[in-house]
Amino acid sequence: MKNKILLLLTFILLIIGCAVNVNAADSIVMHIDDPVMQVDGQDVNIDNNGTTPVIVNGRTMLPVRAIAETLGLNVEWDQNERAVTITKLPENNKKEDMEKSADKKILVAYYSAQNHTKGVAEVIANELKADTFVITPKEPYTESDLDWTDDNSRVNAEHNNPDTRHIELVTNSPENFDDYDVIFVGYPIWWGSASWVLDDFIKNNDFTGKTVIPFCTSQASGLGESGKELEKAAGSGNWLEGKRFSENFDEKEVRQWVNSLDID
Ligand SMILES: Cc1cc2nc3c(=O)[nH]c(=O)nc-3n(C[C@H](O)[C@H](O)[C@H](O)COP(=O)(O)O)c2cc1C
Repeated sequence: MKNKILLLLTFILLIIGCAVNVNAADSIVMHIDDPVMQVDGQDVNIDNNGTTPVIVNGRTMLPVRAIAETLGLNVEWDQNERAVTITKLPENNKKEDMEKSADKKILVAYYSAQNHTKGVAEVIANELKADTFVITPKEPYTESDLDWTDDNSRVNAEHNNPDTRHIELVTNSPENFDDYDVIFVGYPIWWGSASWVLDDFIKNNDFTGKTVIPFCTSQASGLGESGKELEKAAGSGNWLEGKRFSENFDEKEVRQWVNSLDID
């Protein structure tokens, strides 16, 4: 039975092989009644709903969204038409363009108090072969400093009194900041906004001529106005729409987002 599925998948791969994105997976293995697939040898959930491949009336049914998206294709479901449209990635995501963007010098700068944003930053940096810069407060936050449920914690004191929110950094810039063409700026959401630990990094660097892409992690809040607020505080740079990830982010979602960006 496994052989049959592999054969079918190989057939699908052959049909759409020409559309495969430069960062898309090379192989997918699925098993009947198993919600976990192997993507390039790694276990990955097919989706968050526990969907599995099944055999119905002797026909093998495979989850097309998981397959198409893993291969770097875009899948849309139209409820009115009850139709699925699968498309190649937009022009700006084609291999030649990705190769062109390899010439760009990319920095992933981030602050992460509890390592969630760090995880996303590392996926971005790996995917784009980018450098990283960790925005580090001179006085790091301890677990109890971060306890927003405690009225007397450091974060609550700083949140309640903006005058105490100036957080000095170990250093405001990485070496050769001027050489970077694209800067990803990552942060945790604190009370619906970007953590104020970023402030000195944003205010003390000149983003003129650079593409700047905010990203954040949070428990539940969206990106909100955080990207726009940072853009305003920076006063320079070509800021793109950013993206929020859950603190339990999905690596595949991060990679797909990175590869959908127009950073040429
Ligand atoms: C002081 C503080 C305030 C927070 N405020 C929010 C919030 O407004 N909305 C939300 O969804 N999560 C909030 N969170 C949760 C964090 O955004 C989330 O855990 C994030 O992934 C942490 O990233 P980090 O590990 O990189 O620091 C808050 C966490 C802290 C410590």
